[in-house]
Amino acid sequence: MKKANEIDYGSIGFGYIQTPYNVRCYYRDGKWAEIETCTDENLSIHIAATSLHYGQECFEGLKAFRGVDGKVRLFRPTANAERMQRTAQYLQMAVPDTELFVKMCEMAVELNIDYVPPMESNGSMYLRPLLIGTGAQVGVKPANEYLLVIFATPVGPYFKGGMCGINVMVDREHDRAAPRGTGHIKVGGNYGASLISSVEAHNKGFDSVLYLDPREHKYIDECGAANFFAIRGNSYITPASRSILPSITNMSLKQLAADLGMEVEAREVEFSELTTFEEVGACGTAAVITPIASIYDPQTDIKYEYKWVGEKSQKLYDLYRGIQLGSAPDTHNWNMII
Ligand code: PLP
Ligand code: COI
Repeated sequence: MKKANEIDYGSIGFGYIQTPYNVRCYYRDGKWAEIETCTDENLSIHIAATSLHYGQECFEGLKAFRGVDGKVRLFRPTANAERMQRTAQYLQMAVPDTELFVKMCEMAVELNIDYVPPMESNGSMYLRPLLIGTGAQVGVKPANEYLLVIFATPVGPYFKGGMCGINVMVDREHDRAAPRGTGHIKVGGNYGASLISSVEAHNKGFDSVLYLDPREHKYIDECGAANFFAIRGNSYITPASRSILPSITNMSLKQLAADLGMEVEAREVEFSELTTFEEVGACGTAAVITPIASIYDPQTDIKYEYKWVGEKSQKLYDLYRGIQLGSAPDTHNWNMII
């Protein structure tokens, strides 16, 4: 393992870098046990565990930042706890309560605090809470034992170049989720189902994939592992759909857009509206706000192009990042100081 001061935080991408500790909590005999601190990166798991066979697996992603005052801030952990609870309920897993989830996030940052990148590097500490069915089943049934583990890893930009316009391809061959399936929760299976699209898009030279609604392919759903937003005039427009993951970044941007006096439209967004937008982007914990430079539709061979970074996207980015770094007032109490 590299020492914290041996890492060149300004040049790392979005990958796994080992840190000293992860935190774990087991659910057995109908209750959550004490939180454990662990230095081992590996899990030992039963060969019949439901996470391996029947997809009883879900995860979260959130970040901690070193701010202008040197303090470390964890962004909206309660919102991630609530989303994991919704996912766990859907998958019939044990549901970690908010207090347990947030306490474990706090410990994961505190124990690895030296690995939170310096502010000037633009990096952050990414937390990955993972909930898995560990109990053995052979029939298709929920497990009776679970593990919640949270690891921490320093990360840089998700897309090379950071606040740089990405080129996106519409996928009309595969859907990441079904119309009444699991698109709205953060289950690992959604990501397995999306790999074919992203690998094919990358092989064709694109940075990411634009998914359409799985029922009609008439509306815009999501952009890779991030939500989609657009700016038209004074409006912040973002798809509302049963098959997209409710993004905590997007939820925050909707609030900030309203605070800035913009109209917020969360509604079905027709693909045909692409010609009317002035700025478009992808938003998420990993993607932050990534402007989209172009969207290519292989069906029509049309490439829709956008200016980046657009003025309104930049304004939202500055405010959002300012709150995370402690240079803008945290008016909605989103940060948890570690
Ligand atoms: N959509 C998908 C499919 C994602 O994987 C993510 C990442 O978590 C997002 C959207 C963005 O969500 P958030 O802003 O909560 O990270
Ligand atoms: C996130 O933004 O936290 C994600 O989960 C995206 C991806 C790395 C899975």
